[in-house]
Amino acid sequence: SSSSPPLSSSSSHPPPSHFIGKKEDIVKAGRVTKLVNGCRDVLVVWHQGQLHAMDMRCYHSGGALQYGDIEEFNGRLCIVCPWHKYKITLAEGEGLYQAVDDPTVKPLRTHWRSKGVKQRIHKITEINGDVYVTLNDSSEAVESDVYQTERYRTVLLKA
Ligand code: FES
Repeated sequence: SSSSPPLSSSSSHPPPSHFIGKKEDIVKAGRVTKLVNGCRDVLVVWHQGQLHAMDMRCYHSGGALQYGDIEEFNGRLCIVCPWHKYKITLAEGEGLYQAVDDPTVKPLRTHWRSKGVKQRIHKITEINGDVYVTLNDSSEAVESDVYQTERYRTVLLKA
């Protein structure tokens, strides 16, 4: 099924990069959101000396990730969705969760597991203090794609 708009019309050329802003401004703000290429709401995050870019709305229910805290879980930096606290790795967009080893053993022992890539991560490039995002146009569906459709954009902007 393809309910989301195509990210790029051609795969034979390198995908274009889109200017997001001056690095110093992004560093100062910590977070920047931008509609990229007229089709994708992207969140750019500055954290611990690194820039990251991902789909702005959480793959779970479209939560506003730009208001999420960043914390480390199992040694991996995650943005924590403010809506239902889902944890998404900044680098890969993986959904992390705590699995219970054996529910019959008390106290419960848990460990971190990955649900795989759930949030689409985009590529950041920095040239002379300017920051660009290249949309990840992999044709493989990622769950966060659902919240990039016109319908969700309109609904959530009003919410
Ligand atoms: Fe992000 Fe539910 S919308 S955790």
